[in-house]
Amino acid sequence: MTPGNLIIANARIVTPQGTRALKGKEMGELLIIPNGTVEVTDGMITYVGENRNSVPEGYEYLDAQSHVLLPGFVDSHTHLVFGGFRPEEFMWRMRGDSYMNIMERGGGIVNTMKATRAAGFDELKKKAQCFLDIMSRMGVTTVEGKSGYGLDRDAELKQLEVMQELNQQPDRKVDIVTTFLGAHALPPEYKGRPDEYIDFIIREMLPLVKEKELAENCDVFCEKGVFTVEQSRRLLTAAKTLGYGIKMHADEIVSFGGAELAAELHALSADHLLQASDNGIRKMRDNDVVATLLPLTAFTLREPHARGREMIDCGCAVALATDLNPGSCCSGSVPLTFALACIYMNLSVEEAITAMTLNGAAAVNRAETIGSIEIGKKGDFALLNMDTHYVLPYYTGMNSVEKTIKNGVIL
Ligand code: NIG
Ligand code: FE
Repeated sequence: MTPGNLIIANARIVTPQGTRALKGKEMGELLIIPNGTVEVTDGMITYVGENRNSVPEGYEYLDAQSHVLLPGFVDSHTHLVFGGFRPEEFMWRMRGDSYMNIMERGGGIVNTMKATRAAGFDELKKKAQCFLDIMSRMGVTTVEGKSGYGLDRDAELKQLEVMQELNQQPDRKVDIVTTFLGAHALPPEYKGRPDEYIDFIIREMLPLVKEKELAENCDVFCEKGVFTVEQSRRLLTAAKTLGYGIKMHADEIVSFGGAELAAELHALSADHLLQASDNGIRKMRDNDVVATLLPLTAFTLREPHARGREMIDCGCAVALATDLNPGSCCSGSVPLTFALACIYMNLSVEEAITAMTLNGAAAVNRAETIGSIEIGKKGDFALLNMDTHYVLPYYTGMNSVEKTIKNGVIL
């Protein structure tokens, strides 16, 4: 038996199809094979279809009778490398403080920046590995990971290098797609000089991170009181010229023109979007920007959810992700993400599955290789403990993933 050679038989296969993000109505159109087989050879899918009579030699065999087989989940927005934790801020918010007030008082991201600068490489790596293990058990096979808690040259590089090392482990359970988020907050050294900080990122950090091949994408926290639309445009345009994929934290707290900018720059995704304007939503649709919604963050910040239903009805491609981070949302819960998306944003379970698989893959520029169960894609799967995919939101906040399979290996 060669590792990475696997037959999964008698499964109820449920999957979106294609190599791009699905938009609008397409999001609900899943392929369902009630009693099917998947063959994985050398980690890649080589057969999907009806059950076959014989099992080829050299393959591990998994009988998935009465189980749903989904593509592995893609969590396309996380901040999984950071020093320290911020439970006290959570308690302040529970007593009525706001996320932005805490940030203005010098807490928030800058608080984690201090802890991240102080943290050793191995300590950061061990902690991130812990999160990856937890996420793997919930069916996640690829995550996006952002820097953005260093806010200086060395600590930003340290965060990215931690992810690079984790991603080079041959037996890793989760692949990491890395995003440089140097413009996550203004570091105290640049107080009152945001444009100079953006200049520093453009001049020094973007070329350096590119040269070291430490990040594929560039992101910015475009928000009132953080970085303006003009600063974001300048940064992201420079990043795009260097070949980075573009992502944005957009329209999270106030309607700020973030979705519009993402559309103008043909970003891979705009994320959060709690306050995205009608015009911004239409422009994202027209320019193929994935609208990445993070319901766990809205939930923990007690904010109204993003208009996911409207976005899909308007023809957008929507992705779902956790936003795992030490501040606004210390949760990487995939089950709760499904529940909130279906209960509060009125996504159908089928749409939520597309959002957490193929559209998440598109949001990290991986739709060609992951996000659906199709010949030629990676053998990454989540096997559910029931014979219906409705278990995903129905098992509210509880894990319905019985097995996670990575590159054809059952973990
Ligand atoms: O996506 N909004 C900006 N960034 C993160 C929060 C980071 C933090 O609070 O540490 C987010 O919610
Ligand atoms: Fe975020």
